[in-house]
Amino acid sequence: MNLPRGGGEARRLYIKTYGCQMNVYDSGRLAQLLSAHGYRTTDRCDHADVIVLNTCHIREKAAEKVFSELGRMKQMKARDGGDATFVVAGCVAQAEGAELAARAPFVDIVVGPQSYQRLPELLARRDRRQAAIVATDFPAISKFDDLPANRPEAGAVSAFITVQEGCDKFCSFCVVPYTRGAEYSRPASQVIAEARSCAAAGVREITLLGQNVNCYHGEGADGREWDLGRLIAEVAEIEGIERIRYTTSYPADVNDALIAAHRDVPALMPYIHLPVQSGSDRILRAMNRRHTADAYLRLVDRLRRARPDIALSSDFIVGFPGESDADFAATLRLVEAVGFAQSFSFKYSPRPGTPASVEPQLDDALKAERLARLQTLLNDQQSAFNAACVGREMPVLFERPGRRAGQVVGRSPYLQAVHVQLDATVIGTVQQVRITASGANSLAAEPASPPPVAS
Ligand code: 5AD
Ligand code: SF4
Repeated sequence: MNLPRGGGEARRLYIKTYGCQMNVYDSGRLAQLLSAHGYRTTDRCDHADVIVLNTCHIREKAAEKVFSELGRMKQMKARDGGDATFVVAGCVAQAEGAELAARAPFVDIVVGPQSYQRLPELLARRDRRQAAIVATDFPAISKFDDLPANRPEAGAVSAFITVQEGCDKFCSFCVVPYTRGAEYSRPASQVIAEARSCAAAGVREITLLGQNVNCYHGEGADGREWDLGRLIAEVAEIEGIERIRYTTSYPADVNDALIAAHRDVPALMPYIHLPVQSGSDRILRAMNRRHTADAYLRLVDRLRRARPDIALSSDFIVGFPGESDADFAATLRLVEAVGFAQSFSFKYSPRPGTPASVEPQLDDALKAERLARLQTLLNDQQSAFNAACVGREMPVLFERPGRRAGQVVGRSPYLQAVHVQLDATVIGTVQQVRITASGANSLAAEPASPPPVAS
């Protein structure tokens, strides 16, 4: 139902988000934008007047999930008489806009990640008798200039802020340059205003987001370009912000200022997600990455010299076209040499329109075997990293109540989930804890010093 309900009742909006943290951020901003136009979010898809799928196109599996969800939704829509308005947003919308409208004719609006600020207008224009509206052009003006100021969710302890979007690197496997468009950095004043309003609302941790966050070069308060190191230093000055993180970084763009920020800014967490993708120089070249395996190792050394307790995570692709046993062995060697705290690894998946997708492909069984071997090694490293935390004291930012009574859950500096028996009043604060046990994905801890006895 597209018209306001009688009596000024709010229209109900259901958003399902796939993929990366930037999509999570975009969905939040979309919900806020539509709430200003009379929409209230619901977590019941079957009750919604407007259904938005905010989609991911990064790998085949991600896009497939969207299409199977679309199939389910189509049936649901048929059941409710076709009343709900159906919006496909995000990177599948951008990459496959016209095809999507043809393949899923029950979709009403297709809107790319650079155009969702137009959704109120598109919803108002939507007429069920017409074909889907497709809005996938890249606007000349940044969408951020058209969105209302961001407000964090009530009670949020940690918030994302997109500072940079898009990518000009064109790694030969990646759709991002096509779906998110050219690299763009938001002015620092916008980022700082958003971080301030988050802090005022009780947020204690900010994660600065970008596809290529460390090539940030937004206009600073002094009219000059600021890099990410400078931006981090300024965000750290905001009262109430106790922790800063950033993701995702591109190795060749890690500069001295960023390394210095890891040394000098206490609020910057000693953890960096630094995707290397492969340990073979031949494959890195074919991927159009602008670093070698050795350059990556030297960078890790420099980061560790600046901040000895820094932990690293990475992304890996196995089975890239042309990857030999020797190339894969080089990846395993790089993993052994670095020692990662956490990692994400994937089978290469040919993406339409990318240069590597037209190369001869490796056998899927070989990809699967390499992925299993790599994941065994990475999982062992993650478990070893977690186990090495046992007995240590570390600060934890508490975020929410745990599943068990009297339990709270927070994050270590290294993003591990930490469970502690503590009063819920610690939520939103950083407390020193002693790690008592470790699992594959989380830690248990006790307060480092007993709570003060009430007088
Ligand atoms: N196939 C497999 N993995 C991919 N990634 C990006 N594109 C592909 C692809 N075509 C992985 C990379 C990237 C992460 C976000 O997703 O490792 O860093
Ligand atoms: Fe994709 Fe490479 Fe850009 Fe990362 S740097 S978003 S992998 S093209």
